[in-house]
Amino acid sequence: MSNKKGRISLRGVRKVFGSFEALKSIDLEIEPVEFFALLGPSGSGKSTTLRVIAGLETPDDGAIFVDDEDVTFGPPGERDVAMVFQNYALYPHMTLAENIGFPLKMDKVPKADIPGRVREAAAKVKIDHLLHRRPGQLSGGQQQRCALARAIVRQPKLFLLDEPLSNLDAQLRLETRVELKKLQRELDVTAVYVTHDQEEAMTLADRMAVFLDGEIAQIGTPDEVFNKPANMAVAAFIGSPPMNLIAAQLDGSEIRIGDYRLALPGQNTRPPGPVILGIRPSHITLSDSGLKASLYLSENLGEGMLLNCLYGVDMIKVRLPEVRRINDGAALNLKFDPGQIHLFDPESRTRIEIG
Ligand SMILES: Nc1ncnc2c1ncn2[C@@H]1O[C@H](COP(=O)(O)OP(=O)(O)O)[C@@H](O)[C@H]1O
Ligand SMILES: [Mg+2]
Repeated sequence: MSNKKGRISLRGVRKVFGSFEALKSIDLEIEPVEFFALLGPSGSGKSTTLRVIAGLETPDDGAIFVDDEDVTFGPPGERDVAMVFQNYALYPHMTLAENIGFPLKMDKVPKADIPGRVREAAAKVKIDHLLHRRPGQLSGGQQQRCALARAIVRQPKLFLLDEPLSNLDAQLRLETRVELKKLQRELDVTAVYVTHDQEEAMTLADRMAVFLDGEIAQIGTPDEVFNKPANMAVAAFIGSPPMNLIAAQLDGSEIRIGDYRLALPGQNTRPPGPVILGIRPSHITLSDSGLKASLYLSENLGEGMLLNCLYGVDMIKVRLPEVRRINDGAALNLKFDPGQIHLFDPESRTRIEIG
């Protein structure tokens, strides 16, 4: 265990709004100085979790610990957190310097020390040349940097970010993403980062929790979540588009989908029976033989193409690395890379490990 500060533990945290259970029972351990993403679709409970960590919401059940201290009912001020939101939340009538220095003023930091610390924080996010301006005179990206500077100026133990890049246009979002990661490494502080954008979570996070319907469906590194989804819900959410999930029969070391037979890459001790086979669109190729499907519609992606193929009533997505001309309705043979298949139990919907 690291002796650095900033460990967060959520134990059985439940949050109810009226009759709606926004968080069912969240268990989460975030390590000191980790960049931890809360990823999930809108309404899945990410912001509520962040607000509970910040102390802006009190859980209806369960407990929150920061560095082994129970803070469940403590006020936000005791947690040494800084938050950054999507909408910047800057004071429009104050200059950037005043905005960034505001938390220091609140903390009663000696007046003489404030300008130096403001300048230092502003320099870290490269807006130290704009300190005399007001937020209205800045671009969205600059305003978000100001919000970041205001968050880091106090050198908090926990850095909580709620979709901080969502209001930026695509190009700026990519640039700011890189800088945010650099900044967190440099600050050596625990960051909890809420996003619905899986690319953001994959690129930024050391580990992530996938939220679905007020529950955590999986916790792991981006690699683990992408390459070993723990259940069908995560498999159906991660990837763009996510992996295909197809009903199949497992029999010894063979998998059958209709007439199509595939050899399992490993040993199987499960008895014969139905399974759900998962395979990513990029792990299917067109071949002379394979699963017989027909082209419903192809989409040109510039870099390659996405084929939407009909197999019975199921739509199977295939990603080809090159663009070629295929007519709608064309008969196709889909070949699955056996080393890239995932299996799930149709009852429990959880992953089956292939020996
Ligand atoms: N203060 C509140 N009052 C009532 N419902 C809320 C409140 N805050 C959040 N919710 C509901 O709880 C669910 C989870 O919200 P939230 O944590 O904000 O989701 P996310 O950040 O993942 O989009 C949503 O259905 C939302 O409408
Ligand atoms: Mg939210």
